[in-house]
Amino acid sequence: MTDTASTPWTPTFTVEEVDAAPRRFDHGELGVLVAMVDGLPRAVSADCLHKGASLEGGVCRDGVVTCPSHWWRYDLRDGSLQGTPGATLTVYPARVSDGVIEVDLPEARHPRSLRETLLAHARGESAV
Ligand code: FES
Repeated sequence: MTDTASTPWTPTFTVEEVDAAPRRFDHGELGVLVAMVDGLPRAVSADCLHKGASLEGGVCRDGVVTCPSHWWRYDLRDGSLQGTPGATLTVYPARVSDGVIEVDLPEARHPRSLRETLLAHARGESAV
């Protein structure tokens, strides 16, 4: 048995909202592509492994989304890049609750402001 109580599920879109095409959900710095595939909710990282284009707006057929920039193709069931074994988008657990797709996401990180970045630099802290 796994412990799922420590991470709350994040509501994203209704099932109807992603029925025609996957949609992007931003969670802090994290982009998540949410879809319904074969009647099941799916959530993967939304940025292409090639040059980081958003996969939202890519053509999606039979659970495979095509990146709109250079046509790399990903299976939304497991995040796998077609034709490149081992290359996968991050896959997040997803479920439907009262018609809303909820995703189990890590804690949101927000980018530092310029002020925070400069103060961190002045303190000799990491730039990240
Ligand atoms: S950025 Fe997606 S294929 Fe190039």
